[in-house]
Amino acid sequence: MLDTRIQEALPALYDLTPSVEKTRATWEIYKTMARVLSPADWALHAPYVIAINRLKRERNAVILAHNYMTPEIYHGVADFVGDSLALAIRATEVEQDIIVQCGVHFMAETAKILNPAKTVLIPDASAGCSLAESITPEGIARMRAEYPGAPVVSYVNTTAEVKATSDICCTSANALQVVDAVKGDTVIMTPDRFLAQNVANRTKKRVVWWDGACVVHELYTADDLRAYRELNPEVKIVAHPECRPDVVAEADYTGSTSGIVNWVRRNRPKQAMLVTECSMASNIADELPEVTFAKPCNMCPYMKKITLEKILWALHSGEVEVTVAPGIADRARRAITRMIDLGREAER
Ligand code: 13P
Ligand code: SF4
Repeated sequence: MLDTRIQEALPALYDLTPSVEKTRATWEIYKTMARVLSPADWALHAPYVIAINRLKRERNAVILAHNYMTPEIYHGVADFVGDSLALAIRATEVEQDIIVQCGVHFMAETAKILNPAKTVLIPDASAGCSLAESITPEGIARMRAEYPGAPVVSYVNTTAEVKATSDICCTSANALQVVDAVKGDTVIMTPDRFLAQNVANRTKKRVVWWDGACVVHELYTADDLRAYRELNPEVKIVAHPECRPDVVAEADYTGSTSGIVNWVRRNRPKQAMLVTECSMASNIADELPEVTFAKPCNMCPYMKKITLEKILWALHSGEVEVTVAPGIADRARRAITRMIDLGREAER
């Protein structure tokens, strides 16, 4: 519904007709994604990029975007890009009045929880996450009853309600560090069973988990990776820790989405296979022309709900505003800031 409404409304409000002038005016931006996007496609995106960047300044807004956004969002309109941890930390430092969160709903909720005085917008409120949808506060209560006294470490890929009933959060960038830091020999991790199993393989603690999984990362198999490596012995395989442990065992490096980007930047392999979401390789392809990216590409259907059209509409209309009930936000904030503080202490 929203899609039809905005498709009809936007052309009457903004000059969105493709033109040579608009394409020329944004050519420097296009050059950051020329390897993965044709000039004809860019000509269609350019008017939106111009309108969004103008409106962003007029509204005193900032766009925080996850690494899984498509190149025209990642390079074209985002003010800051990063993994979940970096986005959460950045959300505590924003000066603008409005945050447009280009990512999934739990990321926008996290930004709101950490920045209650700001307006947080998500361009499509139905951008969920299979992990966040797999666990409820009742599920956390069941785990606590099964393992009395064990601390609950919840992945940030959870709703505010679940965070509020957890002891501390973690992200893919710090899960092992958080599990090692919490009190007790047994730790409950929710909701991603593969992230939990990957942590369990690296900690001395007993880790028990909820049975959730990411619809993108659970599709990768170790057999597929082995077969690809056999045909392409030079390939470096870089995986996200939401993958199965036997997939992680095949990888040359495992890390958060930003960890993956930084590893490829540092190591510049001739061939790289990013065992994660599709847009990751596209977003760094032009920056690293010497790297050939294998494309075993799985797309996150939730992340892909965020489009330039919806971002422009969010800035124009102030929809959809993300709210979190203050009581829940206060408790969720405790779990998130505990995690952020732990990282800051470790850096000292
Ligand atoms: P990162 O924290 O590594 O960016 O991961 C978030 C996510 O949703 C991965 O699927
Ligand atoms: Fe959730 Fe997986 Fe999409 Fe990340 S890639 S947002 S974990 S469904």
